[in-house]
Amino acid sequence: MGMDINNLPLIREECEILHMTDKQLKEIMSRLHNDLVKGLSRDTHPTAIVKCWLTYIQDLPNGKERGKFLALDLGGTNFRVLIINLGENHFDMQSKIYAIPSHIMTGTGVALFDHIAECLANFMKEHNVYEERLALGFTFSFPLKQMGLTKGILQRWTKGFSCSGAIGEDVVQGLKDAIARRGDVQIDICAILNDTTGTLMSCAWKNHNCKIGLIVGTGSNACYVEKTENCELFEGEPTKPAMLINTEWGAFGDDGALDFVRTEFDREVDSNSINPGKQIQEKMISGMYMGELVRLALVKFTTMGLLFGGRGSDLLFQRNSFYTKYVSEIESDKPGDYTSCMDVLEELGLSHATESDMAAVRHVCECVSRRAAHLVSAGIATLLNKMNEPKVTVGIDGSVYRFHPHFHTLMCEKIAQLVRPGITFDLMLSEDGSGRGAALVAAVACRETLGFA
Ligand code: BGC
Repeated sequence: MGMDINNLPLIREECEILHMTDKQLKEIMSRLHNDLVKGLSRDTHPTAIVKCWLTYIQDLPNGKERGKFLALDLGGTNFRVLIINLGENHFDMQSKIYAIPSHIMTGTGVALFDHIAECLANFMKEHNVYEERLALGFTFSFPLKQMGLTKGILQRWTKGFSCSGAIGEDVVQGLKDAIARRGDVQIDICAILNDTTGTLMSCAWKNHNCKIGLIVGTGSNACYVEKTENCELFEGEPTKPAMLINTEWGAFGDDGALDFVRTEFDREVDSNSINPGKQIQEKMISGMYMGELVRLALVKFTTMGLLFGGRGSDLLFQRNSFYTKYVSEIESDKPGDYTSCMDVLEELGLSHATESDMAAVRHVCECVSRRAAHLVSAGIATLLNKMNEPKVTVGIDGSVYRFHPHFHTLMCEKIAQLVRPGITFDLMLSEDGSGRGAALVAAVACRETLGFA
């Protein structure tokens, strides 16, 4: 091993751009608040950046939902089909993960729906319900302009999807058509929903204070309970006091609102993405981009001669080679221990890293993940302040929140600092919100239309 020159102080200085002060976070909160109001208001909605889509979900589950449901979950890393039995105080659930090959992710919308319908039919065969006519809830985690519980017009693709011919179309109809083309299975699509709403619903099943749903996974987004009187886009009779709003806050910053805190790394991640200029906040937070942000910083510091003796590796210089799970692994090492860090660097062909290199790599990971946690916290604090209720539970899902060792703690601390005095909150991990939530929304919808008690 050569001489271990400690460049950590210089690297720390370079990383300062990833640090957001409370003053900056409060500015972000006030901008997000304004954007949420614009999204909700009839006059400003058409040009709003944070769309605040109606979900048409007005009833939280009451724990009395019963029955057998199918669910689809599309929009995270995996596509899943599920069958769920809701019973008294329990539910059982079986599911299967199907790959979405990349040629389908970037192919045509029709091919995507044909693939989904095929997986669904195969799943029904395997679970001996091929002949049954079942209700289905579809968790479809992309921005939708919902026109009702079973009608949603796709606004844009995110998270690496880009199927042609789907934007502007009703996703439920797309799935129905694909099922009809096969002609073999009978399905009643009872609801289409976002993963944030599924997460909220599945937490609300047990915890009646749950009024915010949050995803910090491949993408990022939140939904919350809003008073119907503030939902200006809602056209029906306001018979129910509240509705879930899907904020689609991943798009926050698309008009430059976050430029004052963005870095060269953010700009590069954005310009290398398949949707440049779009989903700006999401690209600063979510798992699809976090590892790449770290990699870009490491590349810069290597090129400056501050890391790895100025000697990188082919993999280090290759896009998307630093997986987001590495960030969680590296930060899981105990202080002073670099076991996981060493494994990661070895995988990347950087086994010549010294101990101070490893300390620097870990510091970069901490700065990027802490910034993500703080941005999410500013968003949640904005929603909590807007709702202005004394006690709210936030239901959360997603790989970053679930697997990062400090994300939960960072969020608890920062939200507590940012929220108005008198408002209390807790953060609850949702156990498989997208799947269970889809069944619950379908169940509540059936309860409504079929008059089940
Ligand atoms: C989508 C949202 C989704 C979020 C989390 C974003 O890219 O636009 O609809 O809730 O990812 O999956």
